[in-house]
Amino acid sequence: MNEDIKKVLLTQEEIVNRIQEMGKELAADYAGKELVVVVLLKGAAWFATDLTRAIDLPMRVEFMVASSYGNGTSTSGNVKVKLDISENITGKHVLLIDDIIDSGITFAAISDMLRQHKPASLKTVALCDKAERRVNGLDADYVGFKIPDEFVVGYGLDYAGDYRNLPYIGILKPSVYARK
Ligand code: IMP
Ligand code: MG
Repeated sequence: MNEDIKKVLLTQEEIVNRIQEMGKELAADYAGKELVVVVLLKGAAWFATDLTRAIDLPMRVEFMVASSYGNGTSTSGNVKVKLDISENITGKHVLLIDDIIDSGITFAAISDMLRQHKPASLKTVALCDKAERRVNGLDADYVGFKIPDEFVVGYGLDYAGDYRNLPYIGILKPSVYARK
């Protein structure tokens, strides 16, 4: 897989260290609150397993599968839920976790859906943020890394389903797009 990567943007060490910091910040912010984290599968699974273990608080963990992407490299804008949360979040403090915020469409759409359950609060966290690409002015409440407008893979992030298990985040070689 490494030969398909043009450049390593974030090393495993940088990612792990930053997630530890984020965990401490979140633990301070959510102390004493009934916390439910909602993990957007598949991409956020890698980030979320590290982040939740870095938050030293009681919490519930829920998973959602949403899709809008198909196999391309930008969002279709039409977010569909394929697997929904299974526990009641009404009155709970909800933290929505994704691997990356790009256009912002996914967070906007899923946040709207979760708000219908009337949580006590709803915040978002993304490991990476491509702020230049935002279409809706929405920002994540917690961000691991601001990154440039390049298509990245690894640490859960995929291209057409591949590369999620890379232990770092890297920029894919353009020749890979031409091949698939
Ligand atoms: P948004 O809805 O445009 O904000 O995109 C969020 C979703 O797009 C994430 O859950 C990712 O699955 C996907 N995505 C956006 N940018 C990238 C990227 O550079 N690499 C891999 N997936 C990405
Ligand atoms: Mg994805």
